[in-house]
Amino acid sequence: MQIILLFIIGCSIFISADAKSLLLDKPECTQKRLREVDRNFMRLIIIGEHGRKFPESVAELPKFCKETNRLIDLMLKFVSECYPPDEQRIFKVYFFSAKRVVKPLCSRKRSSKMTQIIEAAPCLNTFIHRIDCIDQLTNKTRQLIPYQIGRDKINYACCYYVDAMKCADEALSVPCLTDNAKDTILDLVRSIAGDLVSLACGDYNESTDRCDHIASLPKNKLDKSVKVNTKLKSIVLAQIAMVESMDGFAIEP
Ligand SMILES: *[C@@H]1O[C@H](CO)[C@@H](O)[C@H](O)[C@H]1NC(C)=O
Ligand SMILES: *[C@@H]1O[C@H](CO)[C@@H](O)[C@H](O)[C@H]1NC(C)=O
Repeated sequence: MQIILLFIIGCSIFISADAKSLLLDKPECTQKRLREVDRNFMRLIIIGEHGRKFPESVAELPKFCKETNRLIDLMLKFVSECYPPDEQRIFKVYFFSAKRVVKPLCSRKRSSKMTQIIEAAPCLNTFIHRIDCIDQLTNKTRQLIPYQIGRDKINYACCYYVDAMKCADEALSVPCLTDNAKDTILDLVRSIAGDLVSLACGDYNESTDRCDHIASLPKNKLDKSVKVNTKLKSIVLAQIAMVESMDGFAIEP
């Protein structure tokens, strides 16, 4: 049976897994609800084809934040009903990250970050749905699943993340966005796959050149018998499926 353990003690993570579907065998734990979680996550993170709009005024904040809370609650409910406790912890890492993404907009206190995002929103909203950097990341992460390369998958996944940040940097280089606003939004993007990636990636990150020199995927390690669920399109489910497809991995700080 499936075992995934995720301990966040200080900042060490240990995960071991085999390649089975994690969903508990209960009538309420359907693929339909899983697809709903998938869609909700894409709405939650705002950016992309299946995202939503940034609030353009303080008056729009309550509605935006109400929806944010509703999306997170729905997802948490599903996860707590349909996944064993150890897997739930993995999801929670994402929900913490996703919450952090929207936190500057949904805290009671007005912050300069809030003002900055609201001011940038009319510009952002004209093209935010066309930014496909996260979708590319999801696709590439998902393509790792059938490879029998064990822990090396993490390095590739990390490099895809580095690619996604470069992609977002370019996509956000538009005249109507100030450099400051761009950096704020890039921080939001960075925190989406957030903690799991930053804890797992070691020196395969944005500030080293490790990813420039990573080998291409070994075609002879591609296991064509592995079926990948392409109906699910969110980064959270792609990364969890990728982790499930490894024999396991451990990270020490
Ligand atoms: C991701 O893959 C799907 C097919 O699985 C494709 O339709 C979509 O265009 C791809 N998205 C990007 C951004 O590459
Ligand atoms: C990237 O990796 C290097 C080398 O391990 C490390 O010194 C640096 O802090 C990392 N950067 C980030 C942003 O995590």
